[in-house]
Amino acid sequence: MLLIRRLRDTALTLTRQLNKTSLSFKRGYSYSIKDAIVLQINGETLKFPHIWLRDNCQCEQCFHPSAKSRILDWSKFNLDSKPTEVHKDENSVQVTWDDGHTSRYRLDWLKFRSFTEENQQQYETELYKPPKVTWKGEDFQKICTINDYNEIVSTDEALYKWLKDLSTYGVSLIRNTPSDDTAIDAILQRVGFPKQTHYGLKFIVQNVPNTSNVAYLSSNLQMHTDLPYYGYCPGVNLLHCLVQTNSDGGENTLSDCHYIANYMKEHHPDQYKILTNTEVEWSDIGVENGNEFYKLYRSPVICVDKCDHVWRINFSIPQRGSHFPGPIELVKPWYEAYSLFFELNRKFSASFKVDAGSILVFDNIRLLHGRNQYQDSGENVRKLIGAYIDWDEVYSRLRSLKVKLEKRSYY
Ligand code: OGA
Ligand code: ZN
Ligand code: ZN
Repeated sequence: MLLIRRLRDTALTLTRQLNKTSLSFKRGYSYSIKDAIVLQINGETLKFPHIWLRDNCQCEQCFHPSAKSRILDWSKFNLDSKPTEVHKDENSVQVTWDDGHTSRYRLDWLKFRSFTEENQQQYETELYKPPKVTWKGEDFQKICTINDYNEIVSTDEALYKWLKDLSTYGVSLIRNTPSDDTAIDAILQRVGFPKQTHYGLKFIVQNVPNTSNVAYLSSNLQMHTDLPYYGYCPGVNLLHCLVQTNSDGGENTLSDCHYIANYMKEHHPDQYKILTNTEVEWSDIGVENGNEFYKLYRSPVICVDKCDHVWRINFSIPQRGSHFPGPIELVKPWYEAYSLFFELNRKFSASFKVDAGSILVFDNIRLLHGRNQYQDSGENVRKLIGAYIDWDEVYSRLRSLKVKLEKRSYY
């Protein structure tokens, strides 16, 4: 047992060192040009590694044009292929390899894939994922764009703008939505595929007794992310307000956890570390529409990638289970850090009452959202229709629209 643990620790240390090495290698190392073809394209000197060129041969034996996919036989792939001849003309370059195979690449195709830091950054922000802009409560009016339902449904320009704003700021509103339980469907269809969960493809948020979820009460709903107990957690949350309460309360509260995470990193680094390193158990157990569920997922509150970028937030007071998977000595410090995170989210949040006819759309793995207590009365029963879409679908739609609207091929 002890030996296994030691071996595991050694493996972990080695992995960390390797990750560190590859990270520090990422930029600024000198690349031997004997392993690359060097080309002048539009006045720039660009290097393309032989192995990458051979892997990305565009001929029909190596690449299927309609499937836009590599089909070369990897069991025969030679990692040491070398060109025997390179011929460049005005628009393309032709390479003959040492096994006799020939490849042709368009120069604009190559330039778009160039390995310079500047080009890779441009590709990342223009096509891969638009960069996020963080905000705090007082900025909310400026960053939350208001979009029109009919324009999104009928024009690609409006759909693109809405999704870009959503990915940049993590929140946006859609106005003039028809007062109909199915009105949200047209928006979901414009993006792609809604995400089904044990609460259904769509769900009604309304005060119900003997509820399966505390959101379906009219009491104060503390700030949270939805469904943190899913490994594949829904990325985007859409809440169509069909009926808003006439009573006091019913406002929504939103905060940008990317802003809070940066703030904690700077002002409370120890607590930040605890929230990024300590896994806790998120849970939801019950029955919905006759279907039993028993969801558990272990994850920190702030999930960061190997570059220390936040990629997912989990936070829910009701839906954190009572099993604490970490060591006992971490319990109190973790609660202190968790409390601080909650307080900072409240401090830097914005609060507003959504009008009937609006859809509030937000990034469920970036923002916390909550709702103030309200009171239904006979003729006025607050009602929302909720649905989810994954970020994979949103980013995919954004890229397809960009290509279509700019009438250019990124392929
Ligand atoms: C929820 C929720 C917000 C609201 O159902 O998870 O956050 O305004 N609802 O009722
Ligand atoms: Zn080929
Ligand atoms: Zn919610």
